[in-house]
Amino acid sequence: MKYSWAATAVASSSFLANTVLAASADDWTNRAIYQVVTDRFALGNGSSPSCDTSQKKYCGGNWQGIINNLDYIQSMGFDAIWISPVVENVQGTTTEGEAYHGYWPQNINSLNSNFGSADDLKSLSSALHGKGMYLMVDVVVNHVVANPTNTSSVWPETFDYSQLQPFGGSNSFHTQCFIDDYNNQTDVEQCWLGDSGLPLLDLDTENSTVVDTMYSWIKNLVSDYNIDGLRVDTAKHIRQDFWPDFASNAGVYTVGEILIGNVTYAAPYTKALDSVLDYPTYYAVYDAFTNGTSGNMSVITEMVTQAQDQYNHGTFYVGSFVENQDNPRIQSTVTDQSIVKNAMTWPFINDGIPILYYGQEQGYQGGNDPANREALWLSGFNTENKPLVTHVKTLNAARKQAISYNSSFLTTKASFISQSSTSTLAVSKPPFLALLTNGGSSSSVSWSIPSSAGLYTGSETLVDVLTCETVTPSSDGSLSVSASSGLPKVLMPAEALSKSGSLCSSQASGSGAVGLKGLGMGLMGAVVVGIVSGVMVLA
Ligand SMILES: *[C@@H]1O[C@H](CO)[C@@H](O)[C@H](O)[C@H]1NC(C)=O
Ligand SMILES: *[C@@H]1O[C@H](CO)[C@@H](O)[C@H](O)[C@H]1NC(C)=O
Ligand SMILES: *[C@@H]1O[C@H](CO)[C@@H](O)[C@H](O)[C@H]1NC(C)=O
Ligand SMILES: *[C@@H]1O[C@H](CO)[C@@H](O)[C@H](O)[C@H]1NC(C)=O
Ligand SMILES: *[C@@H]1O[C@H](CO)[C@@H](O)[C@H](O)[C@H]1NC(C)=O
Ligand SMILES: *[C@@H]1O[C@H](CO)[C@@H](O)[C@H](O)[C@H]1NC(C)=O
Ligand SMILES: *[C@@H]1O[C@H](CO)[C@@H](O)[C@H](O)[C@H]1NC(C)=O
Ligand SMILES: *[C@@H]1O[C@H](CO)[C@@H](O)[C@H](O)[C@H]1NC(C)=O
Repeated sequence: MKYSWAATAVASSSFLANTVLAASADDWTNRAIYQVVTDRFALGNGSSPSCDTSQKKYCGGNWQGIINNLDYIQSMGFDAIWISPVVENVQGTTTEGEAYHGYWPQNINSLNSNFGSADDLKSLSSALHGKGMYLMVDVVVNHVVANPTNTSSVWPETFDYSQLQPFGGSNSFHTQCFIDDYNNQTDVEQCWLGDSGLPLLDLDTENSTVVDTMYSWIKNLVSDYNIDGLRVDTAKHIRQDFWPDFASNAGVYTVGEILIGNVTYAAPYTKALDSVLDYPTYYAVYDAFTNGTSGNMSVITEMVTQAQDQYNHGTFYVGSFVENQDNPRIQSTVTDQSIVKNAMTWPFINDGIPILYYGQEQGYQGGNDPANREALWLSGFNTENKPLVTHVKTLNAARKQAISYNSSFLTTKASFISQSSTSTLAVSKPPFLALLTNGGSSSSVSWSIPSSAGLYTGSETLVDVLTCETVTPSSDGSLSVSASSGLPKVLMPAEALSKSGSLCSSQASGSGAVGLKGLGMGLMGAVVVGIVSGVMVLA
């Protein structure tokens, strides 16, 4: 079924009921995102077919399937999801299989019918909003895809341009050349991704007609489906000054994919868009945790410090992740559960917006694309006896508690307390003190916090919210902690925990601030009376 955007000019009667205020970067900072590959999360009819990732074919997941399983996501504490690109992709098969992942747009004015209808996508959006959750949609602007019409060696290759809507002709595209020099930014922006078997036709985003088409497209997409945020694919393949107007037409939080481990390269894009997916730190984290005892945790400190200094808004708006659809899962390299839990902790204890890639909570182990795009339904959405589900649930609850306890949590940058070993990391972000290690379950490590760090007075009791065990600083405020099984620790003062809360309530000594956890719940029925520094005040 094809869907034309023009049809949305006639607003549906439920338009007002589904409208939420455009969500800014500030509105996103207290959220936690669960990333799904739409085709691989759930089927709308609840069936559970086999899904061989190596086949690179559609497996049947769709928007209705996500709607049906929002409780699974929300019960782990997530209050936003990121879904695959939604527009119609190249049909049938290509030299790289089918477009089940959504990154090969063909007609941007039509939806991918494999994922459902326009009504299904609207239903997903309103189901999320009804639960106080946000919708982030992945968007591809750099390229569109059609199979070459002539498999003989003709150059430049030929295409049926009528499939590439609304672009129509070859003059909407940069002249065909493949990127061969990633140090040449013109090459990166104006030559093509892909290869001759599956060329990604590079839109001429220097052409004002193409530019205007994209700006009005994104404006309509966001408003037609009440989208709250955008993940912007291949953002470094388009000139930086294309993005600010794209972002303002979108009118919601935008986070760009700048796939590079170089903070200085990524930094300007944090001015062009709200922020970036924090790839430099991702690489440091992945290396630190998957490289045995030679993994160097100090590199994380180095990267984050650079990013805090160089990014616009520091790292408060970055998307912080340890897995995604393009990179091997942590457990494809390391299965020691202590190390896995340490790595999973990272996104929740630093400055950025945490993103969990679906399936990590189920212990999925897929390696490089396409192996890392397993079907989640094969897990049965089981949450019983799943230690990583429990782990992520606790991390989300702890972060919400930290946010509600300390109003500076979201705006004060994390700091690192130097440790003698490159196998340990101590991150302070009050009320959190996170102690991480890559030592593994048979290691014995310790962290040492000197009194000069000024974190404690010596009179407080600290609770590791991952185990509810308590530790006490010395009378001079210094702290020494050891872990015999290489597990991470997220320490919070007992006073920051509520006796009536769900987080180590037996160890808590705080009376319990009203958490932000419920904020946004029931938003549809509430009257928004004001917005004070990004926090909605409900009447
Ligand atoms: C469920 O949906 C899939 C994908 O649309 C379809 O192939 C399958 O036959 C359906 N199963 C049932 C039991 O309806
Ligand atoms: C493909 O290109 C070759 C070489 O230019 C040409 O001879 C042939 O006719 C083309 N085939 C089609 C179907 O266009
Ligand atoms: C710009 O793109 C439009 C179609 O999107 C095309 O009609 C026009 O010829 C292009 N202009 C140039 C200078 O290539
Ligand atoms: C950079 O790439 C562009 C596009 O491929 C090319 O025209 C230009 O010559 C390259 N510049 C250098 C210095 O190699
Ligand atoms: C990182 O990017 C900057 C800006 O593009 C560049 O000048 C620098 O050479 C890059 N560093 C490395 C190590 O590639
Ligand atoms: C692992 O450590 C070795 C030796 O220090 C280094 O050469 C390699 O790049 C590291 N690999 C990863 C994935 O970090
Ligand atoms: C670990 O990384 C830090 C920061 O990059 C570096 O200064 C230090 O030399 C590294 N240590 C080892 C043992 O590789
Ligand atoms: C709240 O966070 C700020 C900034 O990190 C810190 O200075 C302050 O001590 C914290 N307050 C409490 C009560 O933890």
